[in-house]
Amino acid sequence: MTQSEQKVMVANTAIDTLIEKGLIFSGMKIGLGTGSTAMPAITRLAEHLKKGSIKDVKAVVTSFQAQNACLEYGIPVYSMNHPEINGELDLTFDGADEVDPDCNLIKGGGAAHVREKLVEYNSKIFVVVADSTKRVDTIGTKFPVPVEVIPEARASVTRALEATGAKPVLREGVRKCGPVITDNNNWILDCTWEKPIDVPAMEDKINSFTGVVEVGLFSKKKPIVFLGTDDGKVEIRNLD
Ligand code: 5RP
Repeated sequence: MTQSEQKVMVANTAIDTLIEKGLIFSGMKIGLGTGSTAMPAITRLAEHLKKGSIKDVKAVVTSFQAQNACLEYGIPVYSMNHPEINGELDLTFDGADEVDPDCNLIKGGGAAHVREKLVEYNSKIFVVVADSTKRVDTIGTKFPVPVEVIPEARASVTRALEATGAKPVLREGVRKCGPVITDNNNWILDCTWEKPIDVPAMEDKINSFTGVVEVGLFSKKKPIVFLGTDDGKVEIRNLD
């Protein structure tokens, strides 16, 4: 099975299971994540809406990519500030860049982690869908942790991040010279450390630096996790 086939299998298993368990239901307020695993999950949700196993969901999207998927599938999109949503969702599903044994995450490989965290920390249930390459023992030394900053704070936040032992690198565009500009018009500093980090403590510490909008460490809301295994199965964590 290829990695992209595994992403589709995990995404389909997650959506089907969540509908079966009644955690995705008609009329609900649902958050939709970003990336190559969240996209097939949105496709599966759209298939269920089309065949009528659920209906009338109100979606909040975490990126331009998810917004486009909703346009394609005719799923109505709301702002978090819309009175029908009022800043709170029933459930959000999304991908992840790394998942450790405590279900701490790195997110933001697609530079969407600010809206992702806003939506996910304000959802009653947070669900992660990820292929087996995302499974790690520790966080901080391999996949870079993104830190979104306002452009004027790049130098001061870089110095503060270096004091934690991180090596921050400004994320640059592909086929565009200069920094990646996020959906919130900010920049990204990608950080790695020589040794594994204490994820909850580092999430708090980095978010305390002036000029940081949000770090892509997710440790404050334990997700239900659907995680691919090397032998082509799906491990499910934190689902009763
Ligand atoms: C985007 C994200 C994605 O969910 C994360 O990068 C995983 O993406 P993929 O499923 O394509 O590997 O956090 O900001």
